[in-house]
Amino acid sequence: MPVVLITGATSGFGRAAAKRFAQAGWSLILTGRRAERLAELETELKEQVPVLTIKLDVRDAAAVSQALAELPQEFKPLTCLINNAGLALAPEPAHKVDLKDWHTMIDTNITGLVNVTHAALPLLIEAGAGASMINLGSVAGQWPYPGSHVYGASKAFVEQFSYNLRCDLQGTGVRVTDLAPGMAETEFTLVRTKGDQAASEALYRGTTPLQAEDIAEQLFYLATLPDHININRLEVMCTRQAWAPFAIDRD
Ligand SMILES: NC(=O)c1ccc[n+]([C@@H]2O[C@H](COP(=O)([O-])OP(=O)(O)OC[C@H]3O[C@@H](n4cnc5c(N)ncnc54)[C@H](OP(=O)(O)O)[C@@H]3O)[C@@H](O)[C@H]2O)c1
Repeated sequence: MPVVLITGATSGFGRAAAKRFAQAGWSLILTGRRAERLAELETELKEQVPVLTIKLDVRDAAAVSQALAELPQEFKPLTCLINNAGLALAPEPAHKVDLKDWHTMIDTNITGLVNVTHAALPLLIEAGAGASMINLGSVAGQWPYPGSHVYGASKAFVEQFSYNLRCDLQGTGVRVTDLAPGMAETEFTLVRTKGDQAASEALYRGTTPLQAEDIAEQLFYLATLPDHININRLEVMCTRQAWAPFAIDRD
């Protein structure tokens, strides 16, 4: 039975992916910081497939490596790792942000990503051909926009890290993909605005954003491609989102 490890499974893309992979009979390792949400998911999905939930903060390198070292035999080796845990904070301009918010984004989106990757790589390599690592980047990793500062830069890291890993994993059979979504309706904006429900609803109102299930479908597609295919980067936007012209400051 194939095994998928999903970080940030308590909400949004991660939770939707847990349900999508369960539907197809994959064993699930689900992680996140909110234990009560992990417990709810476990109760819901354990009727369908084996489920292991681990309360884990990806920023804690020691806890991450211990959790992966202690995986029960039935959850090894790893067929797929979805490095999904991440967040944006501080939508205000760079010169107005709290430095702590920049650090939190770097610690989660970059340090957390490398912590989990480092601990999981041997388990993916053990699985060999057909195994895959899918890292959640973002359109923000390539397209600058106001208020993206460290968030966008952290997602540019995800992209280049993914390409570089492919070079080192050459010959192991392990695939690596940077999955880069555009605007998607999850708890992402609620987190970014520190709980401003009205701001979150306003962002998605009157348009048709991607839903978590749309991204879960892409994740499942990437993980189940024939062994010899590696999609390096997959950028997905809702049809109603596109780019704007350059901004010009005028007198
Ligand atoms: N929604 C979008 O528009 C969008 C677009 C492009 C890319 N993305 C990326 O997609 C990924 C998922 O975002 P989402 O939209 O699904 O947002 P979400 O609904 O807020 O989910 C984020 C998940 O990350 C987990 N997480 C955050 N910090 C963590 C930490 N320190 N340790 C462990 N888990 C942590 C959260 O779990 P706990 O709080 O329980 O720990 C939660 O399960 C992120 O990497 C995000 O940057 C989102």
